[in-house]
Amino acid sequence: MSVETRTTRITVPSIRARKGGEPIACLTCYHAHTARLLDSHVDLMLVGDSLGMVMHGMENTLGVSLDLMILHAKAVMRGSSRALVVVDMPFGTYEESPQIAFRNAARVMQETGCTAVKLEGGARMADTVRYLAERGIPVMSHIGLTPQMVQVMGGFKTQGRTKDEWPALEEDARAVAASGAFAVVLEGMAEPLAAKITRDIPIPTIGIGASAACDGQILVMEDMLGLNPSPPKFVKRFAALGPAIEQAVADYVADVRARRFPGPENIYAMKA
Ligand code: KIV
Repeated sequence: MSVETRTTRITVPSIRARKGGEPIACLTCYHAHTARLLDSHVDLMLVGDSLGMVMHGMENTLGVSLDLMILHAKAVMRGSSRALVVVDMPFGTYEESPQIAFRNAARVMQETGCTAVKLEGGARMADTVRYLAERGIPVMSHIGLTPQMVQVMGGFKTQGRTKDEWPALEEDARAVAASGAFAVVLEGMAEPLAAKITRDIPIPTIGIGASAACDGQILVMEDMLGLNPSPPKFVKRFAALGPAIEQAVADYVADVRARRFPGPENIYAMKA
Protein backbone atom coordinates (compact mmCIF):
# COMPACT_ATOMS: atom_id res chain seq x y z
CA MET A 1 0.00 0.00 0.00
CA SER A 2 1.42 3.37 -0.88
CA VAL A 3 0.88 6.23 1.50
CA GLU A 4 0.78 9.70 0.00
CA THR A 5 2.20 12.34 2.32
CA ARG A 6 1.20 15.67 0.95
CA THR A 7 1.03 18.89 2.90
CA THR A 8 -2.09 20.85 2.14
CA ARG A 9 -1.62 24.56 1.74
CA ILE A 10 -3.45 27.04 3.93
CA THR A 11 -6.53 28.06 1.97
CA VAL A 12 -8.17 31.35 1.12
CA PRO A 13 -11.37 30.52 3.10
CA SER A 14 -9.27 29.67 6.17
CA ILE A 15 -7.49 33.06 5.98
CA ARG A 16 -10.82 34.78 5.42
CA ALA A 17 -12.22 32.98 8.50
CA ARG A 18 -9.46 34.45 10.71
CA LYS A 19 -11.28 37.82 10.85
CA GLY A 20 -11.14 38.90 14.49
CA GLY A 21 -9.33 35.67 15.42
CA GLU A 22 -5.70 34.61 15.76
CA PRO A 23 -3.57 37.29 14.04
CA ILE A 24 -2.46 36.32 10.52
CA ALA A 25 1.35 36.28 10.15
CA CYS A 26 2.56 37.27 6.68
CA LEU A 27 5.96 38.07 5.17
CA THR A 28 7.17 38.88 1.70
CA CYS A 29 9.24 36.18 0.03
CA TYR A 30 11.03 36.20 -3.32
CA HIS A 31 13.16 33.05 -3.51
CA ALA A 32 13.12 29.31 -2.90
CA HIS A 33 15.50 28.94 0.02
CA THR A 34 13.87 31.66 2.12
CA ALA A 35 10.46 30.18 1.22
CA ARG A 36 11.69 26.92 2.77
CA LEU A 37 12.70 28.75 5.95
CA LEU A 38 9.41 30.67 6.28
CA ASP A 39 6.99 27.97 5.20
CA SER A 40 6.28 26.27 8.51
CA HIS A 41 6.01 29.57 10.40
CA VAL A 42 3.97 32.10 8.46
CA ASP A 43 0.38 31.77 7.27
CA LEU A 44 0.89 33.70 4.05
CA MET A 45 3.85 34.58 1.84
CA LEU A 46 3.53 37.49 -0.52
CA VAL A 47 5.65 37.59 -3.65
CA GLY A 48 5.47 41.37 -3.54
CA ASP A 49 6.44 43.67 -6.37
CA SER A 50 8.72 45.27 -3.75
CA LEU A 51 11.13 42.65 -5.16
CA GLY A 52 11.92 45.22 -7.86
CA MET A 53 13.49 47.45 -5.21
CA VAL A 54 14.77 44.76 -2.81
CA MET A 55 16.17 42.22 -5.28
CA HIS A 56 16.82 44.33 -8.36
CA GLY A 57 17.78 47.75 -6.99
CA MET A 58 14.97 49.65 -8.71
CA GLU A 59 13.98 53.07 -7.37
CA ASN A 60 10.31 52.12 -7.12
CA THR A 61 8.03 49.24 -8.17
CA LEU A 62 6.87 50.71 -11.49
CA GLY A 63 9.47 48.86 -13.59
CA VAL A 64 8.50 45.38 -12.42
CA SER A 65 7.14 43.13 -15.18
CA LEU A 66 4.72 40.20 -15.09
CA ASP A 67 7.53 37.88 -16.27
CA LEU A 68 9.71 38.93 -13.33
CA MET A 69 6.87 38.31 -10.87
CA ILE A 70 6.25 34.88 -12.40
CA LEU A 71 9.94 33.95 -12.20
CA HIS A 72 10.14 34.75 -8.48
CA ALA A 73 6.72 33.26 -7.72
CA LYS A 74 7.77 29.93 -9.29
CA ALA A 75 10.83 29.87 -7.00
CA VAL A 76 8.70 30.58 -3.91
CA MET A 77 6.22 27.85 -4.88
CA ARG A 78 9.06 25.35 -5.35
CA GLY A 79 10.39 26.21 -1.90
CA SER A 80 7.09 25.93 -0.03
CA SER A 81 4.25 23.50 0.52
CA ARG A 82 2.19 24.86 3.40
CA ALA A 83 1.83 28.65 3.45
CA LEU A 84 -0.66 30.41 1.20
CA VAL A 85 1.27 32.14 -1.60
CA VAL A 86 -0.11 35.41 -2.97
CA VAL A 87 1.52 37.11 -5.97
CA ASP A 88 1.42 40.86 -6.65
CA MET A 89 0.05 42.07 -9.97
CA PRO A 90 2.63 44.59 -11.19
CA PHE A 91 1.91 48.10 -12.44
CA GLY A 92 0.28 48.18 -15.88
CA THR A 93 -1.02 44.61 -15.88
CA TYR A 94 -4.50 45.02 -14.36
CA GLU A 95 -5.66 48.66 -14.22
CA GLU A 96 -6.93 49.01 -17.80
CA SER A 97 -9.90 46.65 -17.65
CA PRO A 98 -11.22 43.68 -15.67
CA GLN A 99 -10.71 41.51 -18.76
CA ILE A 100 -7.00 42.37 -19.07
CA ALA A 101 -6.62 41.89 -15.32
CA PHE A 102 -8.22 38.45 -15.61
CA ARG A 103 -5.98 37.38 -18.48
CA ASN A 104 -2.80 38.41 -16.65
CA ALA A 105 -3.87 37.09 -13.24
CA ALA A 106 -4.90 33.75 -14.79
CA ARG A 107 -1.45 33.55 -16.39
CA VAL A 108 0.18 34.14 -13.00
CA MET A 109 -1.91 31.38 -11.40
CA GLN A 110 -1.44 28.89 -14.25
CA GLU A 111 2.31 29.38 -14.64
CA THR A 112 3.21 29.55 -10.94
CA GLY A 113 0.56 27.46 -9.18
CA CYS A 114 0.03 30.23 -6.62
CA THR A 115 -3.32 30.52 -4.85
CA ALA A 116 -4.19 34.21 -5.14
CA VAL A 117 -3.12 37.59 -6.46
CA LYS A 118 -2.89 41.01 -4.85
CA LEU A 119 -3.69 44.26 -6.56
CA GLU A 120 -3.53 47.86 -5.45
CA GLY A 121 -6.52 50.21 -5.31
CA GLY A 122 -9.82 50.52 -3.48
CA ALA A 123 -13.11 51.78 -4.90
CA ARG A 124 -11.57 52.39 -8.35
CA MET A 125 -10.58 48.69 -8.61
CA ALA A 126 -13.76 47.25 -7.09
CA ASP A 127 -15.24 46.10 -10.42
CA THR A 128 -12.01 44.32 -11.27
CA VAL A 129 -11.84 42.62 -7.86
CA ARG A 130 -15.40 41.35 -8.37
CA TYR A 131 -14.69 40.21 -11.95
CA LEU A 132 -11.69 38.16 -10.86
CA ALA A 133 -13.22 36.75 -7.67
CA GLU A 134 -16.36 35.61 -9.53
CA ARG A 135 -14.18 33.81 -12.09
CA GLY A 136 -11.99 31.82 -9.73
CA ILE A 137 -9.16 34.22 -8.90
CA PRO A 138 -8.95 35.03 -5.19
CA VAL A 139 -7.93 38.65 -4.66
CA MET A 140 -6.16 40.35 -1.81
CA SER A 141 -6.64 44.11 -2.07
CA HIS A 142 -4.16 46.80 -1.03
CA ILE A 143 -5.21 50.31 0.03
CA GLY A 144 -3.77 53.32 1.85
CA LEU A 145 -0.22 53.94 0.72
CA THR A 146 -0.19 52.19 -2.63
CA PRO A 147 3.41 52.26 -3.95
CA GLN A 148 2.39 51.95 -7.60
CA MET A 149 0.80 55.42 -7.22
CA VAL A 150 4.09 56.92 -6.03
CA GLN A 151 4.30 59.44 -8.86
CA VAL A 152 0.72 60.63 -8.28
CA MET A 153 1.25 60.86 -4.50
CA GLY A 154 4.64 62.56 -4.93
CA GLY A 155 6.39 60.05 -2.66
CA PHE A 156 5.68 57.29 -0.16
CA LYS A 157 3.35 59.14 2.21
CA THR A 158 1.26 57.94 5.15
CA GLN A 159 -2.42 58.15 4.30
CA GLY A 160 -5.24 59.36 6.55
CA ARG A 161 -3.21 61.69 8.75
CA THR A 162 -6.03 64.25 8.64
CA LYS A 163 -9.66 63.30 9.23
CA ASP A 164 -10.84 64.79 5.95
CA GLU A 165 -8.95 61.96 4.16
CA TRP A 166 -10.79 59.26 6.12
CA PRO A 167 -14.11 58.94 4.22
CA ALA A 168 -12.42 58.09 0.90
CA LEU A 169 -10.13 55.52 2.52
CA GLU A 170 -13.04 53.98 4.43
CA GLU A 171 -14.99 53.80 1.18
CA ASP A 172 -12.02 52.02 -0.43
CA ALA A 173 -12.06 49.39 2.32
CA ARG A 174 -15.83 48.89 2.13
CA ALA A 175 -15.75 48.68 -1.68
CA VAL A 176 -13.11 45.93 -1.91
CA ALA A 177 -14.75 43.94 0.89
CA ALA A 178 -18.13 44.16 -0.86
CA SER A 179 -16.54 43.13 -4.17
CA GLY A 180 -15.23 39.84 -2.86
CA ALA A 181 -11.61 40.49 -1.80
CA PHE A 182 -10.69 37.86 0.81
CA ALA A 183 -8.38 40.24 2.72
CA VAL A 184 -7.02 43.75 2.37
CA VAL A 185 -3.56 45.16 3.06
CA LEU A 186 -3.62 48.52 4.85
CA GLU A 187 -0.25 50.11 4.15
CA GLY A 188 1.09 53.36 5.62
CA MET A 189 -2.21 54.33 7.20
CA ALA A 190 -2.87 56.47 10.29
CA GLU A 191 -3.29 54.13 13.27
CA PRO A 192 -6.80 55.14 14.42
CA LEU A 193 -8.14 54.92 10.86
CA ALA A 194 -6.64 51.45 10.31
CA ALA A 195 -8.14 50.31 13.64
CA LYS A 196 -11.53 51.75 12.67
CA ILE A 197 -11.52 50.08 9.24
CA THR A 198 -10.55 46.78 10.90
CA ARG A 199 -13.58 47.06 13.19
CA ASP A 200 -15.92 48.09 10.38
CA ILE A 201 -15.28 45.66 7.50
CA PRO A 202 -16.03 41.92 7.43
CA ILE A 203 -12.72 40.75 5.85
CA PRO A 204 -9.28 40.51 7.50
CA THR A 205 -7.07 43.57 7.36
CA ILE A 206 -3.31 43.01 7.06
CA GLY A 207 -1.34 45.96 8.38
CA ILE A 208 2.05 47.31 7.36
CA GLY A 209 2.88 50.57 9.08
CA ALA A 210 -0.79 50.78 10.09
CA SER A 211 -2.16 49.41 13.40
CA ALA A 212 -1.59 46.56 15.86
CA ALA A 213 -5.38 46.19 15.80
CA CYS A 214 -5.27 44.81 12.24
CA ASP A 215 -6.24 41.16 11.79
CA GLY A 216 -2.72 40.36 10.61
CA GLN A 217 0.63 41.97 9.83
CA ILE A 218 3.06 41.88 6.94
CA LEU A 219 6.62 43.15 6.58
CA VAL A 220 9.19 42.98 3.83
CA MET A 221 11.36 40.08 5.05
CA GLU A 222 14.66 41.80 4.21
CA ASP A 223 13.59 44.82 6.31
CA MET A 224 12.79 42.80 9.45
CA LEU A 225 15.98 40.75 9.07
CA GLY A 226 18.15 43.87 9.04
CA LEU A 227 19.33 43.51 5.44
CA ASN A 228 18.04 46.93 4.44
CA PRO A 229 20.30 49.69 5.82
CA SER A 230 17.46 52.24 5.67
CA PRO A 231 14.12 50.50 6.24
CA PRO A 232 10.86 52.40 6.78
CA LYS A 233 10.62 53.95 10.28
CA PHE A 234 7.91 51.59 11.55
CA VAL A 235 9.93 48.41 10.89
CA LYS A 236 11.07 46.44 13.94
CA ARG A 237 14.32 44.58 13.18
CA PHE A 238 14.24 40.99 14.43
CA ALA A 239 17.82 40.23 13.34
CA ALA A 240 20.93 42.02 12.09
CA LEU A 241 21.75 39.87 9.08
CA GLY A 242 23.33 42.74 7.13
CA PRO A 243 26.22 43.18 9.61
CA ALA A 244 26.40 39.38 10.09
CA ILE A 245 26.85 38.85 6.34
CA GLU A 246 29.48 41.59 6.12
CA GLN A 247 31.41 40.00 9.00
CA ALA A 248 31.18 36.53 7.42
CA VAL A 249 32.43 37.87 4.09
CA ALA A 250 35.32 39.67 5.81
CA ASP A 251 36.24 36.40 7.62
CA TYR A 252 36.08 34.50 4.33
CA VAL A 253 38.32 37.01 2.56
CA ALA A 254 40.80 36.80 5.45
CA ASP A 255 40.88 32.98 5.08
CA VAL A 256 41.42 33.29 1.31
CA ARG A 257 44.28 35.74 1.76
CA ALA A 258 45.89 33.59 4.50
CA ARG A 259 45.53 30.43 2.35
CA ARG A 260 43.51 28.82 5.18
CA PHE A 261 41.47 26.54 2.91
CA PRO A 262 41.43 22.78 3.56
CA GLY A 263 41.82 20.31 0.71
CA PRO A 264 39.27 17.49 0.25
CA GLU A 265 41.21 15.09 2.50
CA ASN A 266 40.62 17.45 5.45
CA ILE A 267 36.90 17.47 4.73
CA TYR A 268 36.82 13.63 4.82
CA ALA A 269 38.77 13.75 8.07
CA MET A 270 36.21 16.15 9.53
CA LYS A 271 33.34 13.82 8.53
CA ALA A 272 34.92 10.69 10.01
O1 KIV B 1 5.15 44.55 -2.61
C1 KIV B 1 5.08 44.35 -1.40
O2 KIV B 1 6.01 43.85 -0.76
C2 KIV B 1 3.84 44.72 -0.73
C3 KIV B 1 3.82 44.66 0.77
C4 KIV B 1 4.66 45.73 1.32
C5 KIV B 1 2.45 44.67 1.32
O3 KIV B 1 2.90 45.05 -1.36
